[in-house]
Order: sequence, then structure tokens, then C-alpha cells
Amino acid sequence: MRLTRALSGALIVVTLTSCSPSGASEHGLTRSGTAGAAGIGDADFPNDGNGGYDVGHYTLALGYDPATRLLAGTATIDATATENLSSFNLDLRGFTVSSVTVGGRPAKFTRSGDEMTVTADLSKGSTFRAAVTYQGEPKPVRDSSNLGTYGFVPTSDGSFVTSEPNGAKTWFPGNDHPADKATYEFRLTVPDGVTAIANGELAGEPTSTGGKTTFVWRETHPMVSYLATMTTGKFLVKTGDSEGGIPVYAAVDPRYQNQLDRLYEVSARITDYWSSVFGPYPFKSTGGIVDDFASGYALENQTKPIYGGFEPDEGIISHELAHQWFGDSVSISRWKDLWLNEGFATYAEWLWSEHQGQATAQQTFDRHYANTTDPMWNYPPGVAQKNDLFNNSVYHRGAMALHALRVRVGDDAFFKIIRRWATEHRYGNATTEQFISLAEQVSGRKLGDLFDQWLFEKGRPATLG
Ligand code: TRP
Ligand code: ZN
Repeated sequence: MRLTRALSGALIVVTLTSCSPSGASEHGLTRSGTAGAAGIGDADFPNDGNGGYDVGHYTLALGYDPATRLLAGTATIDATATENLSSFNLDLRGFTVSSVTVGGRPAKFTRSGDEMTVTADLSKGSTFRAAVTYQGEPKPVRDSSNLGTYGFVPTSDGSFVTSEPNGAKTWFPGNDHPADKATYEFRLTVPDGVTAIANGELAGEPTSTGGKTTFVWRETHPMVSYLATMTTGKFLVKTGDSEGGIPVYAAVDPRYQNQLDRLYEVSARITDYWSSVFGPYPFKSTGGIVDDFASGYALENQTKPIYGGFEPDEGIISHELAHQWFGDSVSISRWKDLWLNEGFATYAEWLWSEHQGQATAQQTFDRHYANTTDPMWNYPPGVAQKNDLFNNSVYHRGAMALHALRVRVGDDAFFKIIRRWATEHRYGNATTEQFISLAEQVSGRKLGDLFDQWLFEKGRPATLG
């Protein structure tokens, strides 16, 4: 069934592309392409991301004033057309857009819901630069089924920005889906005395003029849109290098002043430890942020996980830093594969506990397995549900799937699989099918039954592996 549908889908695409562009030019029409799709092709989230182009780089030159809650500036998007296009879409929620240019020329645009459609004739393979100038009060996504509030959240002294799964559109226009990774430059202007923190590294000292300070941050490795952040406010900052030589940037809201040294030290130590388990750290710096916005969550923002309104313990720090390899460097391309992020980061917590001489991974597995009435047994984590994306099962049963794999193939093969996964897909995107085939290749075993039980079928697996 699945094959047939994929095939007929492919046939439809071929028909469209072979008719429309060549047919149009034969008839002398000026438009040579078709409209880029409003979604990138994630069946569970049909409007997320966009089709027809691939972003290479974002330059976000944005000012934010915590007093007025006004965000204003220009997002410049360098992209490549992947089809002949007559228009393309950007995801943006709210704001007033004052102008759009493509290739430096004013371009027409329309808006409908969270979709903005920009008119531009672009031939397949060509690169283009689009610039969007906009302003307004950012409004996060609220009351989402199991995520609460996410996106750009104004706080008393600045902003707390955690955008998973699709909240990047609450603060900049773009291709808001993890399948399209890009590098970023952030030029963030805030009132003097406010610190602006983004991903990657600072490009020089902040500069101040007319009562405002501009911080330039560069993330030079590809990043998914939900991991981008511009966290602003009053912060105490500590920087240095880990023992392993990785630059560290730690920042805490003054309310968490007594956490700064610990956040710095634990983040440095755990980044070094994961480098020895998962392979070289994929980015140029590590660190973390503790803000006073009580989200109750942490998010693995690339190079700088953020902890919202609590004192993070080593368990959660080990989780968010493991995500730097699994989720941030190796990213998913469809949300149903989310266990590849959360199952791995949760399993990392179990490994950290074991490394600390506390519960072993086997003991943690046994504790979960003993709970025969846990609702996760009815939720196969290998097909995350769009209305309950971050279900516990994706975390715990996802981690159990990895432990079952470890027990089946043995420690040598297991850690080889994990390291090869991090290496072979570094800075890219990957799927569950690719993970299973790598595990089979490295271990030399058929593992379909194991993954079926742990990832794809309802019910509590009868055996460990
Ligand atoms: N990925 C986060 C974790 O570490 C959970 C999460 C999902 C989240 N969406 C979020 C956190 C939005 C903050 C905001 O498990
Ligand atoms: Zn996580």
C-alpha cells in the first residue's frame, strides 16, 4: 500500500513539472515556474516549512525593547530554488511586514494565516536573497496540547525564546521545519544594560551607540529553525574553556546568581564526557542559560540549552547536552521520528546516572518495564503522534528501545552504532529507517522484530530484546 501511494505521488509530481514550466514558456507566458508548496512535505504537519527552495543562511538583524515589547528589523534569507518557481512561501505568525525584496528589488507578497507568499520568478538551481522588514509585538504559541507556551516569549526583562516544534515563525520569517537546516547570523540590538544571547559565538565585543547595544552572534554550523534563540534580559555571564578545550558560555538571570558557577562547571564537564562517549563535540562552543521565566522546561537550543525558571540538575543538563549530538547536529526530517531526539537524550540521562555511580541503565530500564500499566505501552514511540508529539513514550519507551538494542547487540556494537550515527549524519538530517539499517549493518543482525516491538507496535514488549 505504502509503495503504491509513494509511486503515484511521484507520478503526479513528474506530470506537474513536465507540463507546467515548459508548457508555460511555449505559450509565451512570463511565468516559467509553479508556486512553491505551502508545506515542506511533513504529512503530520502539512503547513509547516515550505517547498521549492532550500535556505542556506539567515541574517537576523533585529531590535527588541523589553519595555515596549516591540521586535523590529530585517530578516535576510539566502536560499536556492529547488524548482522553477513563480512564488515561494515563508512562515511568519503575526507582525506587520513593511517590505519584501528579492534580489534587492521590491517583491509583491500576500499573507494568509501563518503563510506569507512572495512573488518571484526563480529558476531551479538559482540562488536568491530575500529580505523581509517587519515589526510588531511577538506573540508566542499558547495552549498547545502538550507544550504549553512556546516561541518568542516576552519576559519582565527581555525574552525567553524556545521554539520547538514550530515557533520560529513567532519571531522571524523562514522555512520553519527541521528538514531545512541553515547557518545563522544574529545582529541583536537591545537597550544598554540588557544582554542579548543567541546561538554560536559572539563576533567581537558588543558595540554601543545612542543608548543601545548590538550583539553579533554567528552559528556557523547548520541549525534547525526551532533551535534558534534570541534570549534577552539581565544576565550574569561566565566564559572560559572546558578541560577538553571547548569554549563555554554560561548565563543566568540574577535571580539564579548562585547557579552560575555550577551551570558553567557541570555543562563543561558533561560536554567533555559526551565527547568521549558519542564522538567529537559537533559545534564550536557549549554552555547554557538559566532564565527566570518559569516554563518548567528546558530546550536544547544549539550550543546553548536554556532552562526556564528552575535550577537544572545534572540529569537535565546531561539530557540537553546529549541533544547537541542527537537532535541538533543529527536532526530529524519528519516529526514522527522525534524519538531519535528524545529517546537518545533520555538514554543519555540513564548513561550519566550510571557514570555517576547511581542507577545503572539496566536498573532504570527495569523500573520502567515493571510499570505494566504505564500509558506509554499504548503509544508506539517510533510514530510520534502529531497531537501528542512529546508524549512520555517518545522519551522513555524511546530510551528503552535503545537499551533493548544494547542488550541484543552488546556494548561494543551498540556504542559503535551510536558513534557512527553521530558521525555519518553530522550536521544533517536522518530517519528511523536509516538508524535501523545502520544498527543492522554494524551488528550484522536482523533487528526488525526488536524495533517493531519497541518502536512501532502497541503493547508492552514481552521480552527485553
Ligand atoms: N525538547 C525539549 C526537551 O529537552 C522539550 C520541548 C519541546 C520544549 N518543545 C519545547 C521545551 C518548547 C521548551 C519549549 O525534552
Ligand atoms: Zn529532550
